[in-house]
Amino acid sequence: MDHSHIIEDAKKWVRDFHAQDATGHDYWHIMRVYNNALSLQDEEGGDRFIIEVAALFHDMIDYKLIGNVDQQIDEIERFLDERDVEADTIRRIIHAMQAVSFKGGTNAVKVGSLEDAIVQDADRLDALGAIGIARTFVYGGNKGHDMHHPDTQARENMTFEQYSQEDNTMISHFYEKLLKLKFLMHTDTAKAVAEARHQFMENYLEQFYAEWDGKI
Ligand code: ADP
Ligand code: NI
Repeated sequence: MDHSHIIEDAKKWVRDFHAQDATGHDYWHIMRVYNNALSLQDEEGGDRFIIEVAALFHDMIDYKLIGNVDQQIDEIERFLDERDVEADTIRRIIHAMQAVSFKGGTNAVKVGSLEDAIVQDADRLDALGAIGIARTFVYGGNKGHDMHHPDTQARENMTFEQYSQEDNTMISHFYEKLLKLKFLMHTDTAKAVAEARHQFMENYLEQFYAEWDGKI
């Protein structure tokens, strides 16, 4: 079955849905995750159509962005059903979307299939490296957070909860989330990419602290 028209319709819907987002979930985040997912599928396999649709729709059911998650899931099911996608394929797409989110590690829907794994890896890769750093500063800027408190470096061993309460700087977000992500990748391909992006961020932090301290 040729799914290209469904993918085109999905891209249009997603562009409207994510228009004017300032929380790091803009349309370009979606397209980067989509492209990451395609690259991972090239290497790892899995059902390409399920991966494509789940990547495109993954942030449509984020509780941070919409009030009624169940209603949104119904709408997505209807969108796919109207385009003659099989019920089992729809179920697997929804599962991959539900499994994707980080949510401080408390997400109830766990990654099960290769498709789930690829979509989650693709989303997490977009929080790493040069893009990940940029998104962190954009997010923090929008929230009015401070960039850095100089004692952050001593807090590497804090738990996620302690961090949220104690410190909310853009640099603390590296320790709270970004530097943990390489350990959470599922596929070998994403693990290798994450390792390189992790190293890039470590180098970035080293440079950041040197400049912060006035080293020239
Ligand atoms: P998702 O829902 O895609 O898992 P989030 O909503 O947690 O991700 O984050 C969106 C983007 O903003 C990511 O790049 C993330 O690293 C960044 N971000 C999230 N929380 C913070 C924070 N407290 N400070 C700085 N950046 C953040
Ligand atoms: Ni996302």
